[in-house]
Amino acid sequence: MRIIDVPQPGGPDALVVAQRPVPTPQATEVLIKIAAAGINRADVLQRKGGYPPPAGAPSYPGLEASGIVAEVGSAVRDFKVGDKVCALLQGGGYAEYCTVDEGQVLPVPGALSMIEAASLPEAYFTVWSNVFGFGRLQPGETLLVHGGSSGIGVSAIQLAKALGHTVFTTAGSDDKCRFCEQLGAKRAINYKSEDFVAVIAEETGKRGVNVLLDMIGGSYLSKNLACLAIEGRLVIIATQGGLKGEAELLRIMQRRLTITGSTLRPREVAFKRTVKQQLLTTVWPLLAKGQIQPIVDQVFPLERANEAHAYMESSAHRGKIVIAVDA
Ligand SMILES: NC(=O)c1ccc[n+]([C@@H]2O[C@H](COP(=O)([O-])OP(=O)(O)OC[C@H]3O[C@@H](n4cnc5c(N)ncnc54)[C@H](OP(=O)(O)O)[C@@H]3O)[C@@H](O)[C@H]2O)c1
Repeated sequence: MRIIDVPQPGGPDALVVAQRPVPTPQATEVLIKIAAAGINRADVLQRKGGYPPPAGAPSYPGLEASGIVAEVGSAVRDFKVGDKVCALLQGGGYAEYCTVDEGQVLPVPGALSMIEAASLPEAYFTVWSNVFGFGRLQPGETLLVHGGSSGIGVSAIQLAKALGHTVFTTAGSDDKCRFCEQLGAKRAINYKSEDFVAVIAEETGKRGVNVLLDMIGGSYLSKNLACLAIEGRLVIIATQGGLKGEAELLRIMQRRLTITGSTLRPREVAFKRTVKQQLLTTVWPLLAKGQIQPIVDQVFPLERANEAHAYMESSAHRGKIVIAVDA
């Protein structure tokens, strides 16, 4: 089968077409004939040599894919050959086939296309487990998500809004801000021209938000804490603004704040299986009914994965970028 490999770390052109044998599914795994694969910021980090795959994962990138089940392992219960599925992967999505534990595989929701389905798993596993899991967003509570036009952002805005929450977000241009508001954000803040701490204070009557989903980290730590309501939760999922930051500890004590975070990729299958069940109950019906929608900005063929990465690094995209393998 054809795959996209990274023989040497580097820029987008470090991604090259290569050949590998089609993998064989283990007892609890399915073999998927891939139709499309989602691109994630983590793939860019991996390509640059900064995010090595966990032990046992394929060496080449790709954290999510859609396609048709081509073979099932002896202990697989929930899927059969021919099923239309999408899956959360530990790697290896930039390929014509992949194997994955059935605990990380979901049906394509409703009448969505394979391209749309490929854009879903990484964002919704991440948003669900962090905003509603570790962040414990409760009915009636408010959410601030940084990077509202990112793959993660468009999913968090739509899901929280659909479940009745007031959502605020940040983005890097006025156009992106209007786009986020059309998706359901009550107010999108241009982080390049506005002070998001001041806007959140104004918008919430100085109470602050209950949960903040953060992908910036160090440089935003102090400002993020200043946005939180009493007993608010800061959930960190990336450190685009650095690994280290300064926090006013008195604020944490006086307002009883929680700082938490997580990384999805290295988590055990049992955790992902639990999140999958929650997604099937809560999120997949909303997708099937069109109450939340996949947001796919551009599609590139497999052999032009380098252009897809360059596009992601330009930050011109809104929502997800997808690679078409056989779709
Ligand atoms: N921990 C986990 O398990 C996990 C799982 C999935 C994703 N992630 C992380 O989540 C992030 C989003 O992933 P993605 O694949 O959706 O990537 P993406 O579409 O490339 O999004 C990156 C976003 O970061 C925003 N951004 C950059 N600097 C910012 C700043 N100073 N303030 C506010 N926003 C800023 C960008 O906004 P502008 O373009 O408007 O500047 C862009 O929307 C990545 O950092 C990724 O590593 C973590």
